[in-house]
Amino acid sequence: MVNDAHGSPALSAIHTETRSFPPNVRFAAHANATNFEYKKAEADRLEYWAEAAKRLSWREPFTEILDWSKAPVSRWFHDGTLNACDNAVDRHVREGRGDRVAFHFVGEPGDTQTLTYADMLREVSKAANGLISLGVGKGDRVAIYLPQIPEAVIAMLACARIGAVHSVVFGGFSAESLRQRIDDAEAKLVITADGGNRRGTHLPLKPLVDEAVSATEHHPTPAASVENVLVVRRTGQDTEWHEGRDLWWHDVVDPQSDVHEPEWVEAEHPLFILYTSGTTGKPKGLWHSTGGYLTGAAHTHRLVFDIKPETDVYWCSADVGWITGHTYIVYGPMINGTTQVLYEGTPDTPHQGRWWEIIQEYGVTVFYTAPTAIRTFMKWGESIPDQYDLTSLRLLGSVGEPINPAAWMWYRRVIGGDKCPIVDTWWQTETGSILLSPLPGVTATKPGSAQTPMPGIVMDVVDDAGRSVSNGEGGYLVIKEPWPSMLRGIWGDHHRYVSTYWNHFDGMYFAGDGAKKDIDGDIWLLGRVDDVMNVSGHRLSTAEIEHALVSHEWVAEAAVVGASDETTGQAVVAFVVVRTDGSGADASGEEVADALRKHVRKEIGSIAKPRTILVVNEVPKTRSGKIMRRLLRDVAEHRDVGDVTTLADSSVMDAIRDGLESGKGD
Ligand code: WTA
Repeated sequence: MVNDAHGSPALSAIHTETRSFPPNVRFAAHANATNFEYKKAEADRLEYWAEAAKRLSWREPFTEILDWSKAPVSRWFHDGTLNACDNAVDRHVREGRGDRVAFHFVGEPGDTQTLTYADMLREVSKAANGLISLGVGKGDRVAIYLPQIPEAVIAMLACARIGAVHSVVFGGFSAESLRQRIDDAEAKLVITADGGNRRGTHLPLKPLVDEAVSATEHHPTPAASVENVLVVRRTGQDTEWHEGRDLWWHDVVDPQSDVHEPEWVEAEHPLFILYTSGTTGKPKGLWHSTGGYLTGAAHTHRLVFDIKPETDVYWCSADVGWITGHTYIVYGPMINGTTQVLYEGTPDTPHQGRWWEIIQEYGVTVFYTAPTAIRTFMKWGESIPDQYDLTSLRLLGSVGEPINPAAWMWYRRVIGGDKCPIVDTWWQTETGSILLSPLPGVTATKPGSAQTPMPGIVMDVVDDAGRSVSNGEGGYLVIKEPWPSMLRGIWGDHHRYVSTYWNHFDGMYFAGDGAKKDIDGDIWLLGRVDDVMNVSGHRLSTAEIEHALVSHEWVAEAAVVGASDETTGQAVVAFVVVRTDGSGADASGEEVADALRKHVRKEIGSIAKPRTILVVNEVPKTRSGKIMRRLLRDVAEHRDVGDVTTLADSSVMDAIRDGLESGKGD
């Protein structure tokens, strides 16, 4: 399963990248992080984490820090009790910070809303009472399929408040993907909206929920677990209504009391499930605990983003449907009492300066985004951000994929005015919070490197045999000790949890990423080494898209690879063999590509739509029948295909290349 981590094109950039930016003295003088963090963590790692956990508000304090007796399932702070929503909201009101703005919400059409922490307390309490009135209680699963609007945050926190487990499904996923996730988690309730605003139009959501939960041709029975669908009115578009099942959010939530006592849960109580692509066709429901997860979220948010809650205005541009939105919009920042911007739409609506306009308007000081967005802005040209006053910014973050040095430098110069430290943060849905990052004010940053494990995190780069590689060498990124915000498992599938993460190297968590240590021991990420792609920072599995493609009646066989893409990091490239006995046999390459793109969009969602679809006569396979993705990647990236002697039929590659050159693909 593990391919070659070496020989990545990223390596050449690393060899030549020698720039380094020492921390600014003035920044360092006030930084939340100091070198002392590393020293403390080294002296007593568990005590370091216990101290971080004690910054949370506990109902019953914990006495045990870590229980690793059931490895690889960890339990942290397990005899303590707390509530996630109490930590994110109530606590601030209780301690006199109720008037502080929690969210400056900006809708894509230009509508705005300001919510203080006191407002949030009222809203989450009403929503919690609303959920209870629908029979939702502790341990029940709730699927959330919403646009990036305050109700998404409120719904998540209301679940946490009553001890229900939220499973947020990104609004870009299809009805089929939603159904799969609802069924796997056996969600009792689905919270959605009529639609969301996207690029000036109304993106429908409720019709997709209807398709996901009702009986359809694909699914002859309705989703068995779902009792109700709760619908937020966002766009006002017409929606079909299933009496008895569908309810408006405003009808259920608005009349409720705004007083609600949080449900105190044990630290290991599941807070949420979040589905992510693995190396097989079936998404994994990763689940996180309460106490450990929140400790990681709040601690890393405070250190990495240097948050000063009294003065900072923080903006993380991720969607709440992804882990970045969970940890660095909802839980981390809110526990730290941060004032945030929450934006519903895309960066180019109604114009390509929208994000910079928002930064200027709200005086954003800390900004966290993805390399794919930065590269898009580079393409649009710096004259756009130049029109706005971005001097409020003091710290910039990057997440989701390796950031190439050129994009890093552009981010620093054009957006950060050459004065903001950049934190390139490496982590995963599995890790729950940032594990590798420079500490602002402490680390001399290098463009393109995520650099150092966070204090209290023990990571390494190892070779095939699991031995630590020397500086200057590459290998596989692993985590050697448990950490508080680590996933607790794959929902309902312990065996898959163990085999996915713990079977590669003895006693180590394997992250699926290739990495290299430079001569100083700093870590540079080289991308995934398994069959997972990273498109615009979104994880997609090759197998999942292949399954979708072969489910189309025209397709006999399909092979999918992630090929480098200037803007999105990687792009989905599909090689398909069309059935000769079906109605697709006479279709042109363009017709096939068109039909299959629509099909993938319907099966998985628009994020998984292949950029390029090539119709080929055969896909290259080893003698044992395994698709040779490395070769296809070479073709897709227009590299010379090297040794193909292990192929069952080496003429296949020539045929594919010829097809590509004659423009038969799309
Ligand atoms: C990649 C997103 C390089 C990596 C938080 C990882 C990165 C996967 C970085 C997890 C980074 C994330 N540098 N690669 N700073 N951050 N990745 O679960 O391949 O959506 O394994 O979590 O994204 O993606 P996920």
